[in-house]
Amino acid sequence: MKKIAILIAGFMLAFAPVRADEGMWLPMFVKRLNYADMQKKGLELTAEEIYSVNNSSLKDAIVRLGRGFCTGEMISDQGLMLTNHHCGFGVIQQHSSEEHNYLDNGFWAMKKSDELKAGFSVSFLVRMEDVTEAINSQLNEEMSFEERTKTIKMISDSLEKETKGDSDYDVNVKSFFNGNQFFLFVYETYPDVRLVGAPPSSIGKYGGDTDNWMWPRHTGDFTLFRVYADKDNKPAEYSEDNVPYKPKHHLPISLKGVEEGDFSMIFGYPGSTDRFLTSAGIKYELETRQPTYVKLRRQVLDIYEDEMAKSEATRIAYASKHASISNYWKYFKGQSAGLKRLKVYDKKKAQEDAFQAWVDKDADRKELYSGVLEGFETAYSELKEVNRLRIYLNEAIFRIEAIAYSRQFSNLKSLLEAEEKDQAKIDQEIERLKGGLDDHYKDYSKAIDQRVFAAMIEAYHKDIDAGTQPSKVKEMISKFKGDYNKMAASVYDKTLFADKKVTADFLNSPKAKSIDKDPIYTIMKEVLNHYYQEVRPMIGTKEEGLARSERLFVKGWLEMNKDKSIAPDANSTMRVTYGQVGDYVPRDAVKYDYITTAQGILEKEDPNNHEFVVPEKLKTLIQDKDYGQYADKDGNLVVNFITNNDITGGNSGSPMINGKGELIGTAFDGNWEAMSGDIAFETELQRTIGVDIRYTLFIIDKFAGAKHLVDEMTIVK
Ligand code: ARG
Repeated sequence: MKKIAILIAGFMLAFAPVRADEGMWLPMFVKRLNYADMQKKGLELTAEEIYSVNNSSLKDAIVRLGRGFCTGEMISDQGLMLTNHHCGFGVIQQHSSEEHNYLDNGFWAMKKSDELKAGFSVSFLVRMEDVTEAINSQLNEEMSFEERTKTIKMISDSLEKETKGDSDYDVNVKSFFNGNQFFLFVYETYPDVRLVGAPPSSIGKYGGDTDNWMWPRHTGDFTLFRVYADKDNKPAEYSEDNVPYKPKHHLPISLKGVEEGDFSMIFGYPGSTDRFLTSAGIKYELETRQPTYVKLRRQVLDIYEDEMAKSEATRIAYASKHASISNYWKYFKGQSAGLKRLKVYDKKKAQEDAFQAWVDKDADRKELYSGVLEGFETAYSELKEVNRLRIYLNEAIFRIEAIAYSRQFSNLKSLLEAEEKDQAKIDQEIERLKGGLDDHYKDYSKAIDQRVFAAMIEAYHKDIDAGTQPSKVKEMISKFKGDYNKMAASVYDKTLFADKKVTADFLNSPKAKSIDKDPIYTIMKEVLNHYYQEVRPMIGTKEEGLARSERLFVKGWLEMNKDKSIAPDANSTMRVTYGQVGDYVPRDAVKYDYITTAQGILEKEDPNNHEFVVPEKLKTLIQDKDYGQYADKDGNLVVNFITNNDITGGNSGSPMINGKGELIGTAFDGNWEAMSGDIAFETELQRTIGVDIRYTLFIIDKFAGAKHLVDEMTIVK
């Protein structure tokens, strides 16, 4: 799959300067699969310095944020952690109000006691293990899908239990190559993480949605946190007695900067890629999935933007929700455009023809693999409608915040309805819901939600097959004769779940009947019940057919390409990608440099566009070229740079490391010309965009005056 894509792209752009390197490699195999190639490209470390179970190695400086929403790296011996601004955005937003507007003004803890609770944990990888044999030896092709799934689960559970023993490690087994290989991961998770420093959004998100997913870029997309531990350096829940965590390894920081062709590797937790997607899958993506995401998200974003412009409080409350919806709105838009422009469907078809020819050459192969490709066609066409419904459930129905919120009251309702009431449990549940009131309503706008309700219920009702909509909801809708605003006004007037005081009053003397007849709760319950009781059973085992086709296709593909190294799709496990710094040719007659400088920040400045406002102090520093030790040899300040590393969502915040193992930047984005890269890697076009570490340090030191943080780090000049 990889080779053909490279060949085709190679013919199209014969003179490309650097060739991008596909592959998010498993660190434990680097020595065997990649080490020689890495050395050739400029790596000076030993394989053990990259990944070792017994001695401290690079992997010990890398953390997974939460369950893998982003990556971070240790940059001091006091648990200081660097990640992206957009990874810390939710935390910065939660701590922001009109009085303390850290989104607009930034946040800097000048001493440790000023640091703020982050609310997510970080995990260090202790080790990983190949358990493919243990699992595959118990599986065979005659097994039903259910049997296979059960067996995998049973062995995984027992491996996890055995490995965990009485340690407090998190252990889990993950499937690779669509169910063909299995690995076990052991993590140590630290729950006490605190916010240390964040630049204002006008630096951390400079260029906003306009520049998002684009190069050339001028964004200081970084945030600093600190990991805390108990006195024995072990994981501990938040406590004032905790002390900064002492990592086994922290990354030294290079002030030397990058040049064309320099080695660069990135460690991190890429979330998911779909590199083995077939042509039938591309068709489904282009015709059904992606346009639906783009359409629904755009509608919601328009409402958010309209209301955010009207009120400062709403702008702060919805900043994070807006950013996350918008990020993947633009992603899917770009991915569709890229798939078409780069003719990915045709490339996949050619690969499948080669696969079929390989299958047809051998009787055993024919027995195992014939029909696999047709299986995709059938599965996608059978699943199309129900998949569309699922997208509408997530992207339309559950985008309505009152609906998502009302689901939290299901448990209280059951407790209240029980034959034998357990008052202690009821009280406990009421307390839990009361405890969540502030958090939920702090960032909630009834005005926005009511408009989102009107728009999303209309989209759902009009776009989805009537047979997949519950009749009770259809009746509710038909009462308003197509006037969705009127319906929304009536629903939001009655519901318990769109106003803090109303919800709080209800919780003071809750009745099951009030929940039961609530219009929001009714829609939520009807839609979910209908899906699980009527729609799901209709598709029966069709999804299993798709999973089987995927597993067999990938199995065959690996067999057919057994003399090549092929990396598994991303699945939120630790990976290494390596390559080089380098420019690219986005289109005919245009060449993009591999670095941007602070001068470009001023070129893009537009005081009338909130995405391109430059803080006064930054402007002065740039005009005076007051860059201190962070300037390059010509006295300029490099802001962002690009490499041909292979990353995806989840890698955000990952360290970009030079051949000596020193930190040179923080990865934060991909480029517009290769947005289809998660499905088909684009050798000539695909780039990783990172913040030059010198820009990060310049902002911390010169802009924010937080030099004490730089003093904590290990700086290499
Ligand atoms: N595209 C980046 C990513 O997914 C996120 C960038 C956030 N910036 C923004 N303007 N929304 O990693």
